[in-house]
Amino acid sequence: MRVLVVYATTEGQTRKIAGRIAARVAETGHTPTTADATEAGPAHDPALFDAAFLAGSLHAGRYQAALVDYARRHAAALNARPSAFVSVSLSAAGDDPEDWSGLARCVEAFGRETGWTAMRLHHAAGAFRFTRYDFLKRWAMKYIAHRRGQAVDTHADTEYTDWPALDAFVDETLAAAGKGA
Ligand SMILES: Cc1cc2nc3c(=O)[nH]c(=O)nc-3n(C[C@H](O)[C@H](O)[C@H](O)COP(=O)(O)O)c2cc1C
Repeated sequence: MRVLVVYATTEGQTRKIAGRIAARVAETGHTPTTADATEAGPAHDPALFDAAFLAGSLHAGRYQAALVDYARRHAAALNARPSAFVSVSLSAAGDDPEDWSGLARCVEAFGRETGWTAMRLHHAAGAFRFTRYDFLKRWAMKYIAHRRGQAVDTHADTEYTDWPALDAFVDETLAAAGKGA
């Protein structure tokens, strides 16, 4: 199958996640094409592919505008084929019920805004990227880590992504797509 992977990232973790999705697609004998949503062109029209993965991360409750725009423009083609959404966040790193209901609301809002309903959804835990934050982000993220009771090194990057769980999600999505789901 030809499989499209479109992502948006602010600090880089979702690019890494999209890279892992594409690698897994290739490992399982399919052909991936990856694009950053800010650079997606006519060659990245979902209508040209058998299945599509979109991935974006949450910043203050919203996914990147470029991903929202891409999904909205291509909603019809995305809805017409097997498609999956990978939502990247720090809320998904924990088990706080309020955080998880917040995640559900963000995904719902994304669906309403874009008109795309992903066939499958995966919540991937993201990362603290203290080496890349500017002063304001560093301050905000230290506060978030503190509020969550997370002991985190504020001079390094800490990754929470569960890579085997992501691989399993890709495998299941491709298996369902292969069955014509
Ligand atoms: C300024 C800022 C705001 C964030 N807001 C949220 C949020 O509202 N909910 C959440 O679960 N995670 C939030 N995060 C965590 C990010 O989703 C997480 O760091 C993710 O790995 C970022 O992905 P990226 O590197 O692809 O941009 C925020 C991170 C930053 C830096």
